[in-house]
Amino acid sequence: MAADQPIPYSHKKHVAMGLECAGCHTMPGKGEAATYPAESTCMQCHTSVKKESPAIKLLSKFAEEKKPVPWLRIYKLPEYVWFSHKIHTKDAKCTQCHGDVASKDVLLKEKPIDMNSCMNCHDEHKASNECNLCHNPA
Ligand code: HEC
Ligand code: HEC
Ligand code: HEC
Ligand code: HEC
Ligand code: HEC
Repeated sequence: MAADQPIPYSHKKHVAMGLECAGCHTMPGKGEAATYPAESTCMQCHTSVKKESPAIKLLSKFAEEKKPVPWLRIYKLPEYVWFSHKIHTKDAKCTQCHGDVASKDVLLKEKPIDMNSCMNCHDEHKASNECNLCHNPA
């Protein structure tokens, strides 16, 4: 499933510059979401870098209009599943659930996030697999 993103952003190029995952994917509050970066984060460089490129012109337009770039979502759980990035990234690495993002120009869904994949890892780490843990948390 190749995502046809509105702007051809490359993880490979940007991570190679030394940018960190957490710098763009902040996990506010309880850390449920890993979030997409604010356009102002991109503009720290792109007000000058490659500003004549059509892709960067489009990016600047979103930033000026204060509209989020409509990135296509790749990993998405149904509403009835509770998941927290903050808890899972204490120990697990991003690669474990999303593959080797740093080497990719275009991200695809590489790893499953279905119930079995959650439960297998919970079994391995002796974490609970009570239905309510993921479906009806207190
Ligand atoms: C400069 C900012 C930036 C950095 C640094 C960055 N990302 Fe991203 N990330 C993005 C943007 C923009 C998107 C949306 C476009 C896309 O999917 O390629 C995205 C999308 C993703 C997605 C797909 C989310 C979804 O389901 O739609 C994953 C997973 C991800 N990043 C993981 C990582 C990891 C892991 C790292 C560090 C190795 C990282 N990112 C570093 C900006 C960044
Ligand atoms: C630390 C500075 C920096 C940040 C922050 C940054 N970029 Fe870049 N970006 C660059 C540089 C440098 C290049 C040129 C890389 C190359 O050509 O090898 C580039 C290239 C690009 C290109 C390719 C443009 C073209 O036409 O070749 C796109 C698209 C892009 N960036 C989007 C983004 C987006 C979206 C964000 C925010 C999520 C972002 N960048 C954040 C430095 C940055
Ligand atoms: C234990 C598995 C797991 C780990 C580890 C993990 N993720 Fe995720 N990620 C998911 C799942 C599941 C979703 C879908 C969440 C949803 O739909 O609520 C997701 C969604 C995302 C998204 C889409 C936007 C959002 O807020 O949900 C981004 C971006 C992302 N992950 C980045 C990262 C980064 C960066 C790391 C490492 C710091 C990371 N993930 C570590 C499982 C994981
Ligand atoms: C990489 C292994 C791994 C994967 C994959 C994984 N988990 Fe977990 N999960 C854990 C571990 C370990 C804990 C216990 C963490 C702790 O108590 O510090 C945990 C804890 C949880 C909790 C309890 C958090 C809390 O609030 O106390 C929930 C809910 C959860 N996981 C949901 C999910 C869902 C949903 C998925 C699949 C989309 C998933 N997990 C995939 C390892 C994983
Ligand atoms: C570690 C997290 C986790 C636990 C524990 C868990 N589930 Fe799930 N469940 C998920 C995820 C993620 C999905 C959505 C993805 C999918 O359908 O595989 C899901 C989906 C479902 C669905 C919808 C399936 C469908 O095909 O529409 C049902 C029903 C369900 N779970 C029942 C249960 C029951 C019953 C238990 C306890 C025995 C349980 N779940 C325990 C993570 C979990």
